[in-house]
Amino acid sequence: MRISIFGTGYVGSVTGICLAHWGHQVIFNDIDTRKLDMIEKGRPPVYEPGLDDLLRKNKGHIATTDNPVQAVQQSEISFICVGTPSNGDGSINLQYVEQVCSDIGQAVARKEGIHTVVVKSTVIPGTTEGVVIPALEKQSGKKAGKGFSVVSNPEFLREGNAVHDFFNPDRVIIGAQDETSGELVKQLYSPVDCPKMITSLKTSEMIKYVSNAFLATKISFANEIGNLCKVHGIDSYEVFQGVGMDARINPAFFRSGIGFGGSCFPKDVRALIEFAKTSGTERNILQAVITTNEDQPKKLVQLLKRHLDIPGKTIGILGLAFKPGTDDIRETRAIPVVRALLDEKAHIIAYDPLAMDNFRREFPGISYARTAEEVLAADAILIVTEWPEFDRIDYTGKTVIDGRRVERAKKTAGMYEGVCW
Ligand code: UDX
Repeated sequence: MRISIFGTGYVGSVTGICLAHWGHQVIFNDIDTRKLDMIEKGRPPVYEPGLDDLLRKNKGHIATTDNPVQAVQQSEISFICVGTPSNGDGSINLQYVEQVCSDIGQAVARKEGIHTVVVKSTVIPGTTEGVVIPALEKQSGKKAGKGFSVVSNPEFLREGNAVHDFFNPDRVIIGAQDETSGELVKQLYSPVDCPKMITSLKTSEMIKYVSNAFLATKISFANEIGNLCKVHGIDSYEVFQGVGMDARINPAFFRSGIGFGGSCFPKDVRALIEFAKTSGTERNILQAVITTNEDQPKKLVQLLKRHLDIPGKTIGILGLAFKPGTDDIRETRAIPVVRALLDEKAHIIAYDPLAMDNFRREFPGISYARTAEEVLAADAILIVTEWPEFDRIDYTGKTVIDGRRVERAKKTAGMYEGVCW
């Protein structure tokens, strides 16, 4: 198939390059022409393990254009992969989705045959029917199901694992208004052997949000139970090892610590809360997930205060990225930790293998170390991101407060406390 990808962030880049690897002809469009230039030079606009190699291997059938009309004219299917950031009140911001729909609609107006538009961006249930389709109909002058068709196909990619997750999905979710377009998108995923569920547009949109919200709920649940375990000297990791043995429960995403960050969980849970609010239904559990996640990083500093008076002391921070394997600091738990330490008048020296440049733009006033070992000279060390290299340094004689369960620190530190163990 000839496929156009609108948006070259990590969802668009991964989706397009992986579809090209399956033999399709892919053309990328983005308002940021620097990203298109990077693709033309054989360099993915985002870092994802394995993506550059895949791009190089499939350059022959990958193209770019800054002209959205050309992208539509040179494809049968268009994937909308643009961002849906949060508004100030937590509600979803659809400006990029609306812009792309307008571009695609104008192109569809001048095109013969049925063009299929696939919404891969994470959008609140009802958005495809209530925003995407009306925008396409308005700009194209055609009717959905006749002049074009629209499908929902949410992604479940983990940052830092996106290529693996694209080729090894647990399931493919397809929302469709007609059987033909649903089957067309299902056929795209024929190389992967997993359940492929065809459902309605808004059910597909809801499955995406509920998946992320439940994963975030597991984490906040583990943290709340972990805080209780901590008071009673119980190791929450052992508790959830036993709990997870129940086939109905599954051990994944019960790693207690200082909470979840990233560009998805916080945004998606907040958007679902706003959606429930405007729908007039309760959001007690969802709100508790966010509240627990906002409180959890503070536990690290509260524990530290049990062991030393912070004002004027130098506190080392190991890890700034929202998780290992990425330079992404969006909603990283390091931000509330640093803010709490600054409120306590601490001097901070931080180290992260990848994320220091990004973090320095937000916190230019703290010190940054060249190595993890340099941080060990501080009066106490907080572990915020569980980078593998932090499990290979010697913490002998050091005071360590661990937010992410680094076993080597637990074994070798002079004084060690874990946030939930
Ligand atoms: C997540 C979902 O996993 C993915 O399916 C979805 O498409 C996008 O959002 P991502 O945000 O990239 O992916 O990272 P993930 O690996 O899920 O971790 C998210 C956050 O939760 C990280 O800050 C991580 O440290 C934290 N986490 C994860 C925990 O604190 N405990 C856990 O057990 C698992």
